[in-house]
Amino acid sequence: MPESVLANDPSARIHAAAGQIAPELIAIRRDIHAYPELAFEETRTSARVAAELSRLGIFHRTGIGRTGVVGLIEGGRPGPVLAIRADMDALPMAERTGLPFASQVPGRMHACGHDIHTSTLIGVAAVLKELAPQLAGSVKLVFQPAEEALGGAAAMLADGLLESPKVSLALGFHNHPDLPVGRFGYCRGACLAASDRFEVTVHGRSGHAAHPETAIDPIVAAAHLITELQTVVSREIDPVQPAVVTVGAIHGGSAVNIIPDNVVFRGTVRTLDAGARHTAEAAIRRFCEGAAHTLRVRCELEYARGVPALVNDDVVLERTVSAVRAQMGEVVDGGKPSLGGEDFALIAERVPAFQLRIGSGQPGRADKLHNSDYQPDERCIALGVEALSRAALELLS
Ligand code: NI
Repeated sequence: MPESVLANDPSARIHAAAGQIAPELIAIRRDIHAYPELAFEETRTSARVAAELSRLGIFHRTGIGRTGVVGLIEGGRPGPVLAIRADMDALPMAERTGLPFASQVPGRMHACGHDIHTSTLIGVAAVLKELAPQLAGSVKLVFQPAEEALGGAAAMLADGLLESPKVSLALGFHNHPDLPVGRFGYCRGACLAASDRFEVTVHGRSGHAAHPETAIDPIVAAAHLITELQTVVSREIDPVQPAVVTVGAIHGGSAVNIIPDNVVFRGTVRTLDAGARHTAEAAIRRFCEGAAHTLRVRCELEYARGVPALVNDDVVLERTVSAVRAQMGEVVDGGKPSLGGEDFALIAERVPAFQLRIGSGQPGRADKLHNSDYQPDERCIALGVEALSRAALELLS
């Protein structure tokens, strides 16, 4: 094929470019994988990102949201600013893959594939730098810290992530071991949950276990309350709205013959719908207040709203999915929402956004995220580069 034809065909050009840099991106991924860093400690990782952007001749700033990096590629024509976001942090867990590039840091592991995300976005930067003259608009490359702690996006937003130049739409992505490598996924509307947490301290009055009438038993009260909380989802929230109320910790008491003074329990509330989110919070507050009357205990409730639900924008979703199909064929499928949380939601709350699922499942394995033996298929890096680069080209056409 003559070179002029190749140059005008974005599919072939993007495919060739992604294929060419794939070995280098895998090497970067393995380096980041071997030295995982927790939330807001990603200094080595962000230094590597900055070095790669410098090598590519891409203007960037470091220290955005403490350890975040933001690069900017200006297109050949004016147009909107598209942010593409990758997260960089690892998890506080020991790796058990036995791979030659396994974590060198005890108790730290890239078990959510954020090493894959970081190297994928470096690849997207390389491809889009080459395609820049064809872009009508600019691309902001967002390397975010602290996604697992759910504080990184907020820190970057506080540092003006969406300003100068002003971002008008955003793309996020996450590797998905449930999808085989080579496949991509999407979910319309709310795809990840609002993630709130609560802590209840049940104050009773201590006394002898043999004389319960002289005490106010916070253990029995806590047991009642936790059972009552099971009715929030089953009896108060619209059955077609997904919601979860889970109590994940409970502490109280020290001996069989003592009724203690208090019991503490903690839980999480996950919802996709704003109405369900409000209903759950109101019900938990009401049950805690009611316990004073029915069980004679005083409940102290701390309720903290976390990230909102991640809501995909229909237009950005449609345009991205059709771009991926134009680049790679029928490789994209619709999927279900999940009640996991993700702070890309804070960006999606401010500008129209879409999070693409990138299949990372290795043939013959059944990997899960946050598992100590997680081994994504590294081919997903170059495939993700192709998909996201083509999407950027379409969104800025
Ligand atoms: Ni993750």
